[in-house]
Formats: sequence, structure tokens, C-alpha cells
Amino acid sequence: MQTTVMASNFAVRIEGVDLSEPPDDAAFEALRAAWMQYKVAVFPGQELEDGELLAFASRLGPIFKHIQSTLHTGEKDVMYMSNREQKALVQGELYWHTDQSYTPKPVFGTVLYGIEIPKEGGETCFADLAATYDTLPDRLRGRVEGERAVYAAEKPGHKRRVSLSDEERKKIPPVVHPLVRTHPYLGRKALYLSPTHISKIGDLPEADSEELLAELTDHATQPERVYVHEWTPGDVIMWDNTSVMHKRNHFDPGERRFHKRTGFYLPDTLSTPF
Ligand code: OGA
Ligand code: MN
Repeated sequence: MQTTVMASNFAVRIEGVDLSEPPDDAAFEALRAAWMQYKVAVFPGQELEDGELLAFASRLGPIFKHIQSTLHTGEKDVMYMSNREQKALVQGELYWHTDQSYTPKPVFGTVLYGIEIPKEGGETCFADLAATYDTLPDRLRGRVEGERAVYAAEKPGHKRRVSLSDEERKKIPPVVHPLVRTHPYLGRKALYLSPTHISKIGDLPEADSEELLAELTDHATQPERVYVHEWTPGDVIMWDNTSVMHKRNHFDPGERRFHKRTGFYLPDTLSTPF
């Protein structure tokens, strides 16, 4: 396994690993440790069946189930994200967020496998939320330390890729999470930022909450804390939703884009990332 760090101390490219063949325990632990340390891991040149993708993810934690179960269009818990499916899951730009932060038990790791990639655009960008926390100016740090925020699946002004059914909506009322969280394995703090979902910070009036959120987002997305992934078919990317947020850049709707996606929760023995 060869590792190359791609951004300022985060996002690692891991070569020499074939994810369709389960690595032995030592290799697997090395891979997991590198992923957690660098928050985003890229495994190029993969060729995986749905079952192989699931087998890899399930070794990292219990497989994630999306609240919108209709999105699981592949084998069992694999989601097919394409701009050619009737469901049109993937349409152009997707703003900064962390996955499923609007649920009581958000997914820990998301695994995305690139199959068809537009020639231009459609990059996935990651912002390092541990570095964001570490470098917060005192003025902002004082405003987030010990604070909580409301995370909503349907924040006004942010349209979902696939709208919720009434039944799904009932299952996920807005939730409160701490705005600063401690990494379950590493003990490192990170800002739990998800601008697409945070509808209120602390007791702030809406306008002040939005202003603070914009300031935090601006700090988090400075170029030195962002890694932009330009996809090559066969790339598998895995990210840690407690430590990074991500977004997708716009791409030409005339081009095909197709990914397979799964994810995993924290193992029950480590179920409290707060
Ligand atoms: C996701 C996601 C970004 C992309 O799968 O959670 O945000 O680039 N994907 O498609
Ligand atoms: Mn996402």
C-alpha cells in the first residue's frame, strides 16, 4: 500500500490495494488508520461488484440505510447515483453538507465509486472541518464552543435532490447536534458544519444564525482547507462525515455521470461521536 497526501495534511491517495479482494487484518487496519487520519481516502483503479463494495464497507461498520429507501437501487444497500436514471438523483451542483446530519444517527463513512465521469466539472470537493476548528479565530471559536445547532432535512431555500414523501418527512423531524464534536477514535475536535442542513445555531435569531453560518462556511472553505477531487472512472472515495464536509461542482447535463454509493455507521461500541 502506497500513500500520497494530496492537500494540506488531509486527503490521501492509497495505491496498491484491490478492494475486491478483502485485505488481511493488518492491511485493513493500516488502511482504516490512514483514512481516519487523513479524513478522505481515494483508491484509484478499482473494479467492484455491488457485493464487493458492500463487503468492504461492512468491515468498517454497520451498513448505512438511507431514510429514502427508494434510493437504494442497486444490490441491497448500494445506491446508484446517475443523471440518466428516471429518479435523476444527480443534477448539477450540490452545495456544502455532511451526509445525513439531519438524522439522530448520521452515517460515519460514505463510500462513493465512480463509473461514468463527465469530461469537465462534477468534481467532488472536501473541506477539512478539524483544521477549520483548529484555526478558528477566537471571535468565532467563542461563538461555537459548547454550542448546539438544529439540522433539518428540508432547510428553507435548499431543495433536496429527491423530495421526501410525507411518510419519510414524519420519520425525520429536525434534530439537535453539538456544533463541535470529538472524533470517536482519534479524540480530535471538529466543527460539525452542514450549511445545507443547519437551520439554527443556538438561540440566535434567524438572520444572526445565517450570518454566523456564512462566516463559519467561509472559514471552512478557504482553499488551504479544501481538496478538489477530479474523478477518473474506477476511483473509490471514502470520507469521514465527522471530519469533512463536501460538495459537488456543476457539470454539463448533456454528459453522463454515474456513481455507486454506500456507507457505514460507527460500530455500536463507538456509537457516541459527541
Ligand atoms: C454524496 C454526495 C457528491 C458527488 O454522495 O453524498 O454528496 O460528487 N456526492 O456526487
Ligand atoms: Mn453528500
